[in-house]
Amino acid sequence: MNGFALRHVSHAFRGERVVPVLDDVSLEAEAGTFVSIVGPSGCGKSTLLRILAGLLTPETGEAEVAGRNAAGHPGLAAFMPQKDLLLPWRRALANATLGAEIAGVSRRQAREEALALFEPFGLAGFERAWPAQLSGGMRQRLALLRTFLTPGGTLLLDEPFGALDAITRREMQAWLQEVWLRHGRTVLFVTHDVEEALLLSDRVAVMSPRPGRIATVVDAPFARPRRSEIVTEAAFVARKAALLAALDDAMRMGEGAHPPAGRAPGHPLG
Ligand SMILES: Nc1ncnc2c1ncn2[C@@H]1O[C@H](COP(=O)(O)OP(=O)(O)OP(=O)(O)O)[C@@H](O)[C@H]1O
Ligand SMILES: [Mg+2]
Repeated sequence: MNGFALRHVSHAFRGERVVPVLDDVSLEAEAGTFVSIVGPSGCGKSTLLRILAGLLTPETGEAEVAGRNAAGHPGLAAFMPQKDLLLPWRRALANATLGAEIAGVSRRQAREEALALFEPFGLAGFERAWPAQLSGGMRQRLALLRTFLTPGGTLLLDEPFGALDAITRREMQAWLQEVWLRHGRTVLFVTHDVEEALLLSDRVAVMSPRPGRIATVVDAPFARPRRSEIVTEAAFVARKAALLAALDDAMRMGEGAHPPAGRAPGHPLG
């Protein structure tokens, strides 16, 4: 099983003051599923990804990747952090192989696999470019290429398109869907963009403000491959309205209106 599971995960950061960040989060994905998380800034999305990446052990609850406990085991999933973190002193190819090399893949094999992906990732001819010579979209594709090359079935992508302009972003969404359909990896994708989440995902988890909880999970039952024009179709628009309403409800949960224990949070989509 190459998916992931979070079971009753709660976490607080304990410095000068205690910051409760996650409150009883459970979320599972079977192998090959594309799941998104949307939620307000600071609700704990990046913290959840760091837990699945094995970089942070939650105070309570379990995080599993491919059936193994993620706590204390970084590298079970391939993680693309919120900032692209390309190394400016390594050329594109050497940046691409970094994750695989750290995971113990031989340099030669990593280079071979990376070279084969430069074309499908829209980077052909830029193998020897420095990161500073790449456009914003190319840098994101290179960071994604590196993440794809990192062994492990599950990809954890933290707002990979957050910094891109609308046109580049649309191109990247279409392209990510294509790559995902071809490679069939499990994806957990964080975004602030409700439309992007619905366009790309099988399911969208909506989080409440900090301490983040999963308020509701919305299905995106649209046939694939999905053309970008789908966002103007009636069924999509209706789903988007429902997702926005769920997000509004989740925001109210954060204002102290947590439902009493034992009552399920509202599921506007039934
Ligand atoms: N290492 C840390 N030490 C203390 N507090 C932290 C740490 N990392 C995150 N936090 C706090 O935890 C909360 C959740 O942070 P997180 O980065 O997970 O939010 P997020 O949902 O990803 O937000 P954004 O959408 O802005 O990226 C924030 O209040 C943040 O200040
Ligand atoms: Mg974040």
